[in-house]
Amino acid sequence: MRRDADARLLARARAVIPGGVFGHRRTFAFAGGVARGLPENYPHFLRAAEGCRVIDADGRAYVDLLCGYGPTIAGYRRAEVDRAFAAAQAEGVAYSLPSALEVELAERLVARIPGAAWAAFSLSGTSSVDLALTIARAATGRERLVVAEGAWHGNHSGLAVGAGRPAADRRRSAWIPWGDLGALREALRREPVAAVLLCPYDQQVGATNRLPAPGLWRAVREACDEHGALLVLDDIRAGLRLDPGGAAAHFGIDADLVCLSKALANGYPVAATLGRERLCGAAAEVFVSGTFWGFSPALAAALATLELVDAAACARLAAMGERLCVGLGELASARGLAVEISGPPALPLIRFIDDPRFDRACAFAEGLARRGVLAHPTHNWFLSLAHDEAAIDEALSAAAGALDDLAEDAERRP
Ligand SMILES: Cc1ncc(COP(=O)(O)O)c(C=O)c1O
Repeated sequence: MRRDADARLLARARAVIPGGVFGHRRTFAFAGGVARGLPENYPHFLRAAEGCRVIDADGRAYVDLLCGYGPTIAGYRRAEVDRAFAAAQAEGVAYSLPSALEVELAERLVARIPGAAWAAFSLSGTSSVDLALTIARAATGRERLVVAEGAWHGNHSGLAVGAGRPAADRRRSAWIPWGDLGALREALRREPVAAVLLCPYDQQVGATNRLPAPGLWRAVREACDEHGALLVLDDIRAGLRLDPGGAAAHFGIDADLVCLSKALANGYPVAATLGRERLCGAAAEVFVSGTFWGFSPALAAALATLELVDAAACARLAAMGERLCVGLGELASARGLAVEISGPPALPLIRFIDDPRFDRACAFAEGLARRGVLAHPTHNWFLSLAHDEAAIDEALSAAAGALDDLAEDAERRP
């Protein structure tokens, strides 16, 4: 497949941008400890998007199953959200004092997120987690954390791994397998811990996304209370896709601090750190700063997005996800291909069994892209409210072709 405009852009980008494509959008990333990201034969640049579709640099359209890695929950260019953004922008941006939008959004989120008494806003998931951990350390007078191995919480030198991340920073936390209560209790017994930082379910890239066992979150809460540690829920990825009150409402998680971002403003950058009443003093006391925090058009977009994300919307996301997952499972098993589909249907992770280097996953993503569907080989996918039955069926018909290729390839191999 010719991608002339894409190839020209990539050549220019390689001269001025590290690797040509920087950060998580590059064709190289870690999954399950293996360096494997987007396949090579895949578009590198997009130029437009609408509803559940994106258009690449060569003008080719795709049903998008990535939704910008999560932010697009109501569909690209959703009119209500974009109008709210434009109206706030018309009033001027980046004031030196907060706007009324900040108060309004805090009120709405406090009413929605279980246990939350206040909200503080920043611009990214990373900042939201950083804020939560700073507040937890200020409130407890402790420094150490308990964190799940393999979890991604953003760009924190002590929580991310790889080149440039000092090992000493990582040793400031105890690392446990997600959902392992024994390991959690042991870590909490060993030393004073400021916060246990966890995602609502095990959502590692390239690995089975395991949902919490019944009673897990109650037991985690009890363990935190027994040892005076705070429970920080990183709900940045799943967030409002599971429930209008986020994963805390969906799984019944009684957290002290909750981090939200991604889908909060349907693609516009905003993040919220929410907390319990008793942490309001510590939150007011810490010095934190971000020049662009409180960016009013994004706050207005968040308010408009919240209007769209109600229980019916979450049910629709789950139903469309279910249609996609059931269809994919049937297509794979009809071709004798072993796949595992895990995680919540609104943000499922598709994995080929016995595919340690993700070769089949990459070939599948390439096959989908050739047939007009943009999906990631190792990261979980995301559904939006713009995905209807017709779009899901279009994705399934592309998947049938891509899986045919894989099945033929498997037959050809000895
Ligand atoms: C669970 C989780 N936490 C934190 C982050 C970091 O958010 P951001 O990329 O907005 O800094 C991400 C981003 O992928 C995430 O998935």
